[in-house]
Amino acid sequence: MNANSPAARDVRHVLHGYVELKAQRESLPTVITAGEGIYVKDENGTPYIEAASGMWCTSLGFGEEELVEAAAEQMRKLPYYHTVGYKSVNPAIDLAEKLAEMAPIKDARVYFALSGSEANDALVKFIRYYNNAVGRPQKKKFIARHNGYHGATVATTSLTGIPINHVAFDLPLPGFLHTTDPHYLHHAHAGETREAFAERLARELDEMIEKEGPDTVAAFMAEPITGAGGVIIPPEPYYEKVQEVLKKHDVLFLDDEVVNGIWRTGKLWGAETMGIAPDTMTVAKGLTSAYQPLSALILSDEIYRGMEKGSLGVGFFAHGQTYSGHPVSCAVALKVLEIIETRDIGGHVGRVSPTFARRLQKLGEHPLVGDVRCKGLIGAVEFVADKKTGRLFDPSGVVARRIKERAESAYKLITRNVPSGDSIAFSPPLIITESEIDEVFDRFEKAVNDVMGELAREGAIAA
Ligand SMILES: Cc1ncc(COP(=O)(O)O)c(C=O)c1O
Repeated sequence: MNANSPAARDVRHVLHGYVELKAQRESLPTVITAGEGIYVKDENGTPYIEAASGMWCTSLGFGEEELVEAAAEQMRKLPYYHTVGYKSVNPAIDLAEKLAEMAPIKDARVYFALSGSEANDALVKFIRYYNNAVGRPQKKKFIARHNGYHGATVATTSLTGIPINHVAFDLPLPGFLHTTDPHYLHHAHAGETREAFAERLARELDEMIEKEGPDTVAAFMAEPITGAGGVIIPPEPYYEKVQEVLKKHDVLFLDDEVVNGIWRTGKLWGAETMGIAPDTMTVAKGLTSAYQPLSALILSDEIYRGMEKGSLGVGFFAHGQTYSGHPVSCAVALKVLEIIETRDIGGHVGRVSPTFARRLQKLGEHPLVGDVRCKGLIGAVEFVADKKTGRLFDPSGVVARRIKERAESAYKLITRNVPSGDSIAFSPPLIITESEIDEVFDRFEKAVNDVMGELAREGAIAA
């Protein structure tokens, strides 16, 4: 091993996120150097299928020249200016107008940041500011869900409901609560129907708000379909009942569309797919197809007017960021939205997603698989120790990690293992074709069969 290879130098100096730090000293990273369509290449030129779109984000795939051109053109014209104070830039104005038109929120107002975490973090501040402004300073608690993922800052890790993200960081902060993850396979009572499960979870949320005191609870945050926490699709009538509860207690619905947004779930927004009328939306990832960092926080007119009133009261809206409304990021987002319209990416997702669903459902018949979930081009498969009883592997996560690693090393397929039992998620670029979807699952099935053979030989499952 060459001590000066990029991978060896990485191990010496780069601090990676979401790794076991000690193991990272011995594990050389795969250094990705190029990409085209749904493929990325490592430094040896080996192609991999990127069936996770990186971090659920390169929706238009790699090597999209029109996006490169849009960034270069904007850089030549104006590489940087901002939307702080009384300055603005045209790409931010155009993009805010476009998002306000697209969002299912009337007279929406848009704030720009650079990542999903930053937008959700700003949202926590804005909701506090809003409730101070409208004269209810005690209405400050946030409820999110176990296994929801909302970011990595202090406040958004607190919103996140994944225990490993809290441990050793002294989080969540006070005032951040979590309600049951709507994962039927994991949390349904014996004999409970999907509908009864959904209704019970809404009742539990109601009881939680009542117990905390409705006048202390500001907002409920959820991804319409939980992404990183395992691609969890709540059964009906979950959102209908949850929204009734929130309305009753005057609690806002903060819709995290960071993964769901821009056609991932088969419709423009996850809110549309799941029947949600949100008060705010957070959008990132697919907004620029990850060619530039950008996130947008879309607020209802009511919240904005409240904040405006507060600004008069306290004199100044003391929040802003150097890169808010960055013209290059906004220009790339505008080009993404244009491509989505002119190439009818939504229609394409509608045409190819039945193949995606069919291949996932076929995996559902596999002896190691206990559950499959999908909508549009987001899906997951969950492995269980006993298909008949649905018994999960213990400890959880090891088998999924092993299958993910096997798919990557032996079959050059990148997927994502997610912390919901032993689940692996798929969120390929939205431009994927039907034959490419078949190639993803052909490779994946080989990895599953390899690992199943090993588990049987090791006695971890019945042979
Ligand atoms: C639903 C959701 N919200 C927020 C975030 C945080 O976004 P970022 O990683 O860009 O900070 C993520 C990241 O995966 C996410 O999946």
